Amino acid sequence: MPRSIARAAQPSLRILYAVLATVAAYAASRPSSLIEASSAGRSSSPISQAEGGLSDGDSGGRRLRESSFAEAANYTALECSRYDKTYEQIEADLRIHREMGTHLNATKYIASRLGSVQMRGLTVGFFGGKAMLLVRTDFKGLSHHAKLHMAYIRMLLHLEDCFGSHIPDVAFVLTTSDTPRYVSATVVNASHPALPTPLPAGVTGSRSPFVPPPYPVLGIGKSDYWPDLLLVPNFHFHMKLYDNVTLGAIPDYTRLPWGERKEVLFGRFSRYRMNRFSGDPHTYKWGAAGRKICYNANQTCPTREYFVKRFGSKHRERIDVSFEGKRSMLNHTAFKYVVNLEGQGISSRLEQLLPLGSLVFKEASGYYAYYYRTLLRHRGNLVEFWRVGPEEVLAEMDWAAAHDDEARRIAEAGVQTVQRYLTSNGRTCYWYRLLHGLHSTLAYAPSLEQWAQARPLREVVADLEAREEAWTQELLAEPWAP
Ligand SMILES: *[C@@H]1O[C@H](CO)[C@@H](O)[C@H](O)[C@H]1NC(C)=O
Ligand SMILES: *[C@@H]1O[C@H](CO)[C@@H](O)[C@H](O)[C@H]1NC(C)=O
Ligand SMILES: *[C@@H]1O[C@H](CO)[C@@H](O)[C@H](O)[C@H]1NC(C)=O
Ligand SMILES: *[C@@H]1O[C@H](CO)[C@@H](O)[C@H](O)[C@H]1NC(C)=O
Ligand SMILES: *[C@@H]1O[C@H](CO)[C@@H](O)[C@H](O)[C@H]1NC(C)=O
Ligand SMILES: *[C@@H]1O[C@H](CO)[C@@H](O)[C@H](O)[C@H]1NC(C)=O
Repeated sequence: MPRSIARAAQPSLRILYAVLATVAAYAASRPSSLIEASSAGRSSSPISQAEGGLSDGDSGGRRLRESSFAEAANYTALECSRYDKTYEQIEADLRIHREMGTHLNATKYIASRLGSVQMRGLTVGFFGGKAMLLVRTDFKGLSHHAKLHMAYIRMLLHLEDCFGSHIPDVAFVLTTSDTPRYVSATVVNASHPALPTPLPAGVTGSRSPFVPPPYPVLGIGKSDYWPDLLLVPNFHFHMKLYDNVTLGAIPDYTRLPWGERKEVLFGRFSRYRMNRFSGDPHTYKWGAAGRKICYNANQTCPTREYFVKRFGSKHRERIDVSFEGKRSMLNHTAFKYVVNLEGQGISSRLEQLLPLGSLVFKEASGYYAYYYRTLLRHRGNLVEFWRVGPEEVLAEMDWAAAHDDEARRIAEAGVQTVQRYLTSNGRTCYWYRLLHGLHSTLAYAPSLEQWAQARPLREVVADLEAREEAWTQELLAEPWAP
């Protein structure tokens, strides 16, 4: 990078560092675990303190726009206030954006780097209540991510249908990558502003000069190392018709009484290895007895493989985990304890396990999804282990066996949590509130003129529908529900 750009970037980076000190203090004040212990109580959570925290520094105009979300008729019809507790995550994710402002240049910069097919990104937004594709994309080039993008495109169109002109103007990059992959505020070096990692081969638009964060990037999972990433509900909720198929099956799942379930920890898995950024202190994982299990310069921590092949196999009488012999979710209910292990990042299997009425043991990976921190409680509605090592699972199983009634209540609370919050309306409302929140942080007046390639997403989908090729038809035939 030319020296002049580095110098030009300095003043804003100084502000950035001031904000980072705040963010670092915030991160340090949190327990190392993803999930608060239920006994810790709500008031100790920095997230809940941030509740309604649209306080100092906001202009009156901004306040007005903030509260306007409730004016949409569907805000009431979808019972959006039922999900208030989950919106605390939006406030936490927007903290840096709110303090520093989300700039158009930063949006363009991150769109040119991450809004590409190689980075699984899509540059989109809302203008005049319409969902827009802001930068051309290449569905075919996305290969298996094309259907994930299509699931999100349908969601943006659903938001347009539900809220229309009540959606404020915003532009952002939506990614379907499993793990965050962009320069984050915590890794920018103020004296030598440069990207911390080389860009993957083939990424286009990488010639643009560096513009500092925060960036309006939306994704399914993050750790505290990526404070400006805005979490959104996983595309799998839509593709797996979650409300009908999973929530709808709760009466079947909960039919087998707790007392008849086997006191064994059960799980079946696909082979994925956890990816991480080597400098991220939140996602590093040790094996049993402090063994090192990460490799590839600590960018891969194969916790799932380690737990299944090395750890579970030593405790076969208590733990039944395997990469073979897939079972239906209903068959999982034969077991009192079920285990959730992370994939490349967060595992959306968690949403499949919580409704079973069995006690969910969740690996603490450092990564979290949009609802973990606001809804999940250790020994409240699930059990968390591997905060340090995998052997914690045995101690937690001992505890559960010694407190069987409490374990049953925790399992039931898990079912109630997903039934109440992880609904189609809850996700739609969450998106809508996020768009309002993001809009309120914009440091510029958004306009379609800023995006020369902008097209309504509805037209983009109609164009695909008009194409007769097998791959477009296959893409459009993917199941989807809001
Ligand atoms: C945004 O980038 C343009 C072109 O590089 C520059 O002229 C302008 O000053 C930048 N705006 C801000 C607010 O940094
Ligand atoms: C409410 O949302 C539905 C789609 O879920 C839509 O058909 C309807 O027009 C919306 N109502 C209003 C008043 O926007
Ligand atoms: C920033 O980068 C320079 C050059 O690589 C290095 O000497 C310095 O230690 C870095 N500062 C921080 C805070 O990482
Ligand atoms: C990986 O992380 C561990 C624990 O922090 C550290 O001891 C080791 O040196 C790191 N390895 C590499 C290659 O960075
Ligand atoms: C479920 O379990 C039953 C009996 O335990 C077995 O017959 C059936 O094949 C299993 N189905 C699946 C899909 O695992
Ligand atoms: C979900 O179930 C309801 C009621 O059974 C049905 O009307 C609806 O079409 C189903 N939706 C999907 C996407 O399958």
